[in-house]
Amino acid sequence: MVHVPTRGSLPARLGPQIDNVPDYGPTTMSRNPYTDPVQYELEREHVLAKHWILAGRSEQVVAPGDWISFEGHGETIVISRQPDGSLAAFHNVCQHRGPAIVTDLSGCGARRFTCPYHGWVYDTTGKLVGVPEREDFSDEHLKDVRAKQVAADEWGGWVWINLLGPDDAPSLIESIGPEISSDLGAYKMEDMILYEVVEWDVPVSYKAIVDGFNEIYHVAQLHHSPPEFVKACRKASFHFVGDNYMCFVPRPENMDKWNESYDHHKNAICHYTVFPNTVFNCNPEHIQVFNPIPLGVDHTRFLCWQLIYPGDMNDPEYAAYFAKMQKHWDGLKVVVGEDIAIYDQLARTKKSSGYTEHILSERECKIHRYHETMALKIRGKG
Ligand code: FES
Ligand SMILES: [Fe+2]
Repeated sequence: MVHVPTRGSLPARLGPQIDNVPDYGPTTMSRNPYTDPVQYELEREHVLAKHWILAGRSEQVVAPGDWISFEGHGETIVISRQPDGSLAAFHNVCQHRGPAIVTDLSGCGARRFTCPYHGWVYDTTGKLVGVPEREDFSDEHLKDVRAKQVAADEWGGWVWINLLGPDDAPSLIESIGPEISSDLGAYKMEDMILYEVVEWDVPVSYKAIVDGFNEIYHVAQLHHSPPEFVKACRKASFHFVGDNYMCFVPRPENMDKWNESYDHHKNAICHYTVFPNTVFNCNPEHIQVFNPIPLGVDHTRFLCWQLIYPGDMNDPEYAAYFAKMQKHWDGLKVVVGEDIAIYDQLARTKKSSGYTEHILSERECKIHRYHETMALKIRGKG
């Protein structure tokens, strides 16, 4: 049986009894957050280095010695499975003279990592365990040397990292929050498998990409959505939960079933944003995780992870599930391609003197709120 996510006893998130739009109102905001190099450096320091960010899937690091790496916003991190089943993560930086210790992006069966420059050797937690011609160094300088540690944890079958390190990082589950961990948890992502990862190199800020998933106003024009979907979008509900967001868009084909149970898992597209750059787009059959990784102030590696439920293709029920998922996923890739095309248009104007601010509707409130949260964090107030 393929898992069918259901609301169960979780709170209703959508329906006539729910306030669809937070009491926030229409707003305006400066365009500067997308192009200001000073703000970007502050985000690296106060946001990207202090919040939980995605680094991969648990299924990529199953056995002890399996490892993956994260590369983004000037950081290179190695995450490896330990013999006790935990994950260890460390900055991929040789403490001798600074190059990356590990040259590949992933691997398995590692017991040691050796720097390619002079051969310093590190264990899979990043601790220095070997130095050629050690007698030429000061014992004091080499005492307890390790590549700086990074916190690593797992939730939803995902590997998350926090650059604050194991001693200072807040709890991952508390950062995701009880609303999202229970609502998104109903999909059982930990039981899903990675079907495909699509990657784009995008010449705009990662925040412009998050913006595109924080509103559904653009679906009629950009995605040519049919009138019944545009009408369903008017009934969508938007929720602020701490630094994070939820949004539920009724599937038009299920509108007649809506009043039976207000089961948003079965009858809506459920959307969750975990600050600062992880977006889950959940359909009952499959999930897309949109992950714009900043490479610079206006340069982003944009990953889309496609998750599906596993099964046996010889089972007719699973084969039918798979065919439905594949058809929908093929359509979604076209939709994401349309989003990418608009980023090209944003890239053309990012230095334009004719571009000063955004004028946002009340249904684009998540965008304003996201940038407001970012501004508070970089001032140390969030
Ligand atoms: S720089 Fe890594 S061993 Fe010298
Ligand atoms: Fe879109």
